[in-house]
This record gives sequence, C-alpha cells and structure tokens, in this order.
Amino acid sequence: MDASVLLSRLACPLIPVVVIDQLDDAVPLAEALMQGGVSALEITLRTEVACEAISAVKSAMPHAVIGAGTVSSGQAYEAAVQSGADFVVSPGATDQLFKAAAAHTVPFLPGAVTGSEVLRAMESGYATLKFFPAEAAGGPSALQALSGPFPDINFMPTGGVTLQTVAAYLQLNNVCAVGGSWLTPRDLLIDQKWEAVYQLATDSVTQVTQMSRGEPQ
Ligand code: 3PG
Repeated sequence: MDASVLLSRLACPLIPVVVIDQLDDAVPLAEALMQGGVSALEITLRTEVACEAISAVKSAMPHAVIGAGTVSSGQAYEAAVQSGADFVVSPGATDQLFKAAAAHTVPFLPGAVTGSEVLRAMESGYATLKFFPAEAAGGPSALQALSGPFPDINFMPTGGVTLQTVAAYLQLNNVCAVGGSWLTPRDLLIDQKWEAVYQLATDSVTQVTQMSRGEPQ
C-alpha cells in the first residue's frame, strides 16, 4: 500500500532514522523524540534487536507512528510487519519486496533514484518513494528535476540530510517528508543523553514549523 495517506497525516514531516543497539534504549529514545515534537520515526533493521525495539515502542506508545527501515528482503518485510511496524521503508526495491508488500496493508516506501526505478515503483502502484542517498544522488536539484516527468510522485529524501539542508528539501512540492539520522547522533544514544535528543528534536521541529509558516529561521 502507498504511504501517502499515512505521511499526509503526520503533524511534523521529519522522520528520524535510528539504529538501536540496546533494546532498553528504544522506548526512552522514542519518548524523547516524540516529546520534542516528532510525529514518526524509522527504526532500521540493522541490529539484532531492531524488530524487538519496534514492538517495545509500539507497546509503550501505541499511538506513535513507528516505521521499519532498511528492509531489504521479503523475509525482513514479514518480520517488520510482525513486529507491529506502521510503515516499511527500503533503500531500494525488488520483485521480492513488492510481492511481500502486496501481501500486507502496511504502507511501503520503496527506494528509487533513477527514472527507471521510479517507473518500476509506479508500475507496482506506488506514488510515494524513498529517495536515497539523497545528497549523494543530487539533493534538492535532482528531486526538482524528477518533478518534471513524474508530477504525481512524492519523495521522502534521506541520506546525508542535515538540520542545515532540510529546509531546501521541504520547500519542494514533491517532498512529503524528510528522514535522517542527524536527530539521533550515535554518541548521544551510547551515552543515553535523552534530554539532548529531546533538545535536538525540538530545535529541528521548531525550524521546520517556522519555515512552513514563512517565518525567519
Ligand atoms: C539511512 O538509511 O541510513 C538513512 O537514509 C539515514 O541517512 P543519514 O544517516 O545520512 O541521515
């Protein structure tokens, strides 16, 4: 299922992309981000505890919108759905992933950068795609260029985006959300500095809110 409806309901278009090494960190981290004004986060399936972390956060915060990221196989897609993920994100897309996604109602954001990748996703019924690695793949100007041939496609750029560059992405008509790890630096997670994570989230959300209102930042 396409992710457009889910993403359009988010109060804030920033989606922290997180790597959870310690299961016990998942809930306090999610709480700090949500208290900072973030509406959704993506827990990447890059560690052994990732699926358990998604389940733990959903259990502690049932209304939080929690996605599974770095979903790179049909098997991983199944695991993400079983963990209770509200959406699934992949850095790319394969027949296996499209097949797994078609078997579930959980929204899927396939990754696409090139015209052929966008067309392949469109053929499978998707109009909301992850654009990764955003900065390395050309950044805002590449997304602007894609809006010509693909006016009905929306993107969630991630990869190399920072607090300094996020505004340039969100100003584009074909960007519906922006993801990134700048909201959860690894050193803050290792030291369990949840107050600092909260502050970073607050600063980022404030900047984006001011920008959407046309206020100086
Ligand atoms: C990822 O999949 O790693 C995300 O796109 C986050 O990228 P970043 O760490 O460059 O923000």
